[in-house]
Amino acid sequence: MPFDKKPIIAPSILGANFSNLEKEINYCNDSEAQWIHLDIMDQQFVPNLSFGPAVVNSLRKHSDLFFDVHLMVSNPFDMLIPFIKAGANGISFHIEATESRFTFPPKILINTIKKNGLKCGLALKPKTPFSLIKKYLEFIDYIVVMSVEPGFGGQVFIDSTLSKIAEIDKHLKEKNIRDKILIQVDGGIKLTNYNKVISAGGDILVAGSEVFKSDNPSATINKMYND
Ligand code: DX5
Ligand code: ZN
Repeated sequence: MPFDKKPIIAPSILGANFSNLEKEINYCNDSEAQWIHLDIMDQQFVPNLSFGPAVVNSLRKHSDLFFDVHLMVSNPFDMLIPFIKAGANGISFHIEATESRFTFPPKILINTIKKNGLKCGLALKPKTPFSLIKKYLEFIDYIVVMSVEPGFGGQVFIDSTLSKIAEIDKHLKEKNIRDKILIQVDGGIKLTNYNKVISAGGDILVAGSEVFKSDNPSATINKMYND
């Protein structure tokens, strides 16, 4: 591969066949995937509803991979403990969901996630500037750069995201914290564009429809990891 490091591939269960999740997660177990991405939507922060902690807990029994819960909800604080109990290894929440004076500030959420021994991610919608989360960098483990508007799988990758990834990569290098924080890129990642995402600085590639709608999900994951 033309780059000096391998990406973490995080298949997104949102793209899987919900009527047979055990089979779908086994495709991930039998591949080079290291993380499983679990999209939680509440029909308020985004116009869609997905699944809750009971599903995550059921999946937990079928995989030892890192469970990465992505909270696209308007009240992420209330969902932390249920997903921690369900077996999450990392939780990301949206900075945009913590801007109202009625919500808990980001630092409270970060502390709750970290004190329970999980990795913590901060997520940004495509139009949200990176500058909004700069003051939290020393406390978090990964940044989720949304490369589609959150809410649905199967959308087209927004190309202007690439410059945001590069901006974050540059900033982390300048601050000498590049090895402490991973850049996750979420949405629209395909076999035809993942190389651009890695070149820009992406470390974790979230891919839903490209993996689970392919004939051989394990092979698709391995291709993104190895090529
Ligand atoms: C979108 C979700 C993504 C989604 C990606 O709101 O956060 O994780 O599952 O799906 P694809 O890869 O199909 O764009
Ligand atoms: Zn996601």
